[in-house]
Amino acid sequence: MQTDSSFTFVLFGGTGDLSMRKILPALFEAHRAGGMLADSGKIVAVARHATNRGEYIEWVNEHVKPHVSKNGVDETAWASFLERIEFVNIDLGKAEDFIHLRDAIKDLPGIRVFYLATGPSLFVPICHALASVGLNENSRIVLEKPLGYDLKSSNAINDAVGEIFAEEQIYRIDHYLGKEPVQNLLALRFGNALFEPLWRREWVESIQITIAEELGVEARGDFYDNTGALRDMVQNHLLQLLSIVAMEPPHSMDSDSVRDEKLRVLRALKPIDPRDIGKVAVRGQYHSGVIRGTAVPAYATESGVRPDSTTETFVALKVEIENWRWAGVPFFLRTGKRLADRVAEIVVNFRAVPHSALGASALRAGANRLVIRLQPNETIRLYCLAKQPGEGMNLASVHLDLAFDQFFREGQMEAYQRLLLDVINGRLALFVRRDEQEAAWRWVEPILNEWKVSNKPPKPYASGTWGPAASSAMLAQHGTCWLEEEN
Ligand code: BG6
Repeated sequence: MQTDSSFTFVLFGGTGDLSMRKILPALFEAHRAGGMLADSGKIVAVARHATNRGEYIEWVNEHVKPHVSKNGVDETAWASFLERIEFVNIDLGKAEDFIHLRDAIKDLPGIRVFYLATGPSLFVPICHALASVGLNENSRIVLEKPLGYDLKSSNAINDAVGEIFAEEQIYRIDHYLGKEPVQNLLALRFGNALFEPLWRREWVESIQITIAEELGVEARGDFYDNTGALRDMVQNHLLQLLSIVAMEPPHSMDSDSVRDEKLRVLRALKPIDPRDIGKVAVRGQYHSGVIRGTAVPAYATESGVRPDSTTETFVALKVEIENWRWAGVPFFLRTGKRLADRVAEIVVNFRAVPHSALGASALRAGANRLVIRLQPNETIRLYCLAKQPGEGMNLASVHLDLAFDQFFREGQMEAYQRLLLDVINGRLALFVRRDEQEAAWRWVEPILNEWKVSNKPPKPYASGTWGPAASSAMLAQHGTCWLEEEN
């Protein structure tokens, strides 16, 4: 893919964790691959912990290089990548400093991208400062999550940013949308005639979506303790996955067709009645335990976390969608830190056959199930029933596997690389539109409120398990259980 879209990519928060681990490595990968970034494209870092370009490049060499290319760094590509990088030293708190930024980039070519890899409290001041020197024109702005803490604060940021940038200039990142397997989910659903007729309440009994992590809060205790799993993972990643699984076929893959359909799902989520919250939502917090043979501490003893914290590190929910396709089908969502495995997957449980001519063993063997694994290894597994060899008609569950890395050995792209290229090339489909974000907040907010009002502590779970027992109990009430595939 050859591109002639030149760009000036201004990275605010250029020495932050996200720049170090994700953004700069993703830009390097795109550069190294060749042909994805216009030769004339520049990266302009704005950072606190450096005073000039030399110092910044030193920092990039020391901190970013270890995060690029799993298979070793291509030194020639690395050297030419560094040539793309410029540095501007400004104080983000001083609007007048933005004149230096304007002067530094005024002769650089192409579309301007302003990537705000900073704390959300800086989003609005940075946008105002950019506008004060006319930099909001012919430009795009990229906002990282968290975008707000609730509907009100998210609206306040969106209103303020919206006064300066038009919606089509605003790229709200949810990195799950950039993951290859999430793209593949669209391909599976809308590229195959096979699944679509079955993708509805008549044939689907329930759907599970899990994003499980082995990691704890790492160095982000401060942030996480004021956030919790519902805001950190459900409001965005899990509801985005849910909307892609459940949406109607879009008319085309253009940005608004896809986002319109996702929005319809988000708006059709059945509001959770606060009186039912104990039946449809489980919140948990990890205690100490063992993960892959290593002892790990309790959440409440992690650095930055209050010792008496009641923040949840695990959430399980039963969600319903009020439309013709999905009425009555439970969607079970769960996410948590310090769980037994790192896995993200979607399980579609189909109904059993309406009448089993094959006898009791067919019923015992279960029903069809489609498991779409997003990570760590991307696979699609379809469970079917087959006759066991030998005498009699005894059925067993067997599976057909599609392992993507065996079909496509090359060309895998990290989420951030895809998303950054989309920003540079002006493709909005994989970014969250304001109305989607609002609908997601509107749906999660009653849960947050009820948890706050009832003030019950989260249920404890040992690190290295699948979360509190109440999570399995919730599914048992619906005659089902969480399905954990083997890696
Ligand atoms: C981020 C959350 O959005 O997603 C983190 O803030 C979480 O808490 C991360 O660890 C998970 O992303 P991935 O791509 O590693 O599954």
